[in-house]
Amino acid sequence: MPSDKVFVTRLIPAEGIQLIEQNAQTEVWPERGPPPRDVLLDKVKGVGGILSMLSDKIDAEVMDAAGPDLKVISNYAVGIDNIDVAEASSRGIVVGNTPGVLTETTADVAWALILGGARRVGEAHDYIRKGKWIQWEPMELLGLDVFDKTLGVIGMGAIGQATARRAKGFNMKVIYYDHKSRPELGESSGAEMVSFEEVLTQSDFLSLNCPLTDVTRGLIGAKELAMMKDTAILVNTARGPVVDSGALYKALKEGTIAYAALDVTDPEPINMDNPLLELDNCLMIPHIGSASVATRTKMSMMAATNLLEGLKGNVPPNCVNPQVRS
Ligand code: GLV
Ligand code: GLV
Repeated sequence: MPSDKVFVTRLIPAEGIQLIEQNAQTEVWPERGPPPRDVLLDKVKGVGGILSMLSDKIDAEVMDAAGPDLKVISNYAVGIDNIDVAEASSRGIVVGNTPGVLTETTADVAWALILGGARRVGEAHDYIRKGKWIQWEPMELLGLDVFDKTLGVIGMGAIGQATARRAKGFNMKVIYYDHKSRPELGESSGAEMVSFEEVLTQSDFLSLNCPLTDVTRGLIGAKELAMMKDTAILVNTARGPVVDSGALYKALKEGTIAYAALDVTDPEPINMDNPLLELDNCLMIPHIGSASVATRTKMSMMAATNLLEGLKGNVPPNCVNPQVRS
């Protein structure tokens, strides 16, 4: 019987669970939603590893509750804003994540939102369901073209680049803003680095692909929305709090921008009384960027491997604080 105890905060694809079960005493939270906070604090007692979701806040309190055996936190996500990484590092705990495998899948969803927003796919679906489809209409549900327009990307990391690459097929101009230079993007990428102001003012479609950090929290507020074109579509597959949702509501309501298409909200899940839900010009999907069968399966293996390597005292293959064990 393996001696290390681990807690997995949600059921993930079987491949990953099997690998963990073969190598550790495993408890998996079996319910649909995340474990309530008090349950989480209880379940982690004495574990060597936690496999967490982006919906679990893993902070000093959770690390204290786990106790001194905690060696690794393996996040089933590329984003690690739900984890206090500095705190983990100060305790010698390695933190793993799942970069790479979800890049293309998430870029596909960014494009589902670009196209779905531009051509009002969500509204059109509702239109049929509400019995409004009387006949082919010359003037109903007119949207915006995507081809030949300008795609702006904020955060030109792997997912931003994959989103930008797809724009070539639509003959789009691609501009991007990133807080650091991206030498890996040669001239051949066709993407032009511009200032933050330019990416706001020139984009027809503005795709947010940055991580949530102290710098990017609230990055898109009233001032930034006001700088955007009134025909622009804002696409967020990053994290909800990158956008000030009160300011976004106002901008959509007043026509400051044309549309928002969101895979992420603030908070998640969105409250059912959030006024964004009343708007026709806001398309929302429930944080499904990485949710393809193939990608979630790969993520389960990657997160399981990060967990098990961390338990052994090694640096996980995908680790955001490898210095902890150097
Ligand atoms: C999803 O949002 C992720 O960070 O993997
Ligand atoms: C539309 O279906 C058209 O034929 O113009």
